[in-house]
Amino acid sequence: MIILGIETSCDETSAAVIEGSNNKIVLRSNIISSSFLMHAKSGGIIPENAAREQIKFILPVIQETLDLAKVDLSEIDAIALTYGPGLIGSLLVGVETAKTISFVFNKPIVPVNHMVGHIYANWLVADSIWQVDEKTPRTTPHVLPANIDFPAIALVVSGGHTDLLLMKKHGDFQLLGGTRDDAAGEAFDKTARLLGFPYPGGPAIEESAKKGSPERFRFPRPLVGSGDFDFSFSGLKTAILREVNDLKNIKKLDNQTISDLALATQEAIVDVIVKKISKAAEKYNAKSILISGGVAANQSLREELKVKSEKLEVKFFAPAKNLCTDNAAMIASAAYFNYKPVSWKEVTADPELYFAESPKQ
Ligand code: KG4
Ligand code: ZN
Repeated sequence: MIILGIETSCDETSAAVIEGSNNKIVLRSNIISSSFLMHAKSGGIIPENAAREQIKFILPVIQETLDLAKVDLSEIDAIALTYGPGLIGSLLVGVETAKTISFVFNKPIVPVNHMVGHIYANWLVADSIWQVDEKTPRTTPHVLPANIDFPAIALVVSGGHTDLLLMKKHGDFQLLGGTRDDAAGEAFDKTARLLGFPYPGGPAIEESAKKGSPERFRFPRPLVGSGDFDFSFSGLKTAILREVNDLKNIKKLDNQTISDLALATQEAIVDVIVKKISKAAEKYNAKSILISGGVAANQSLREELKVKSEKLEVKFFAPAKNLCTDNAAMIASAAYFNYKPVSWKEVTADPELYFAESPKQ
């Protein structure tokens, strides 16, 4: 089955082609065009600007991904589409484009929840990925099964969400907890801004933290022992702001200090996440732990979770780093494993969409 994925929920315009059979996926192409450099100048995303960029990019991105996969629109079996959550203007670009293709070529649409899509990046096994971007050499596709066993504990950790879920089988998600205020990515972004780094802050903090010394600062780990699976990161930003102001007053905010603060920020966020995931994995006898979303690209988080999972004897999965942030391959993957095609007439954008089918315990 050949699926064209389309993702336009925020500032990335992405289209991908996957080929799925026997519960395995080969990623034939995945093109991502991002307007983040434009948003870096304004310090964050301005929705109207993001939507305008989506309109410029959507058709060239689809064309390029089809060319790369050597697939014609008439050859695809379905269109996998992000219909929410996200910015309404951005979402509408993907939704209306998908509906038009569906109408003209008579192909069904599989609507995908963006957050569920992030989790399904874990089924795009690294060895099956070829020609993900221009730096990756084109090789013969080599397919390996992902070997993800259920029940799994899945974490979506991005700029807008820190959601911890119990996944009992494909498409079956139970929300265990989420953030009560800022998401983990937001905490990275806000701290980065305080330290003088551009948006998005996560990669900048990670880079700077490499030069940091671990003993100098220690920030609070909110809700770490709360007994539930909720997160809170807004206090972290306040603690760092206080520290930065004190250091500025005594003119001690040099590059080394910035790296030390970056490392302490990363350690606090990673520590809370690792502890909450481990607790959930133990409580629900999980066989696998899956992370996803932009923050899942963080090397320190990946390494600490890998070590912890080994101790717990639970399999650990994280998508390839370039598939942690928004992309259409993960949307197509989710559609393949949860194949519920509908007519274009039934598709509408839903900016507020959540893991609706997952009542909180
Ligand atoms: O999933 P994503 O691309 O977009 C949303 O749906 O939000 O996630 C973006 C978030 C940003 O907050 C960014 O700072 C964070 O992911 N991020 C990282 C890293 N790469 C991206 N955070 C920590 N370390 C990274 N390496
Ligand atoms: Zn996302």
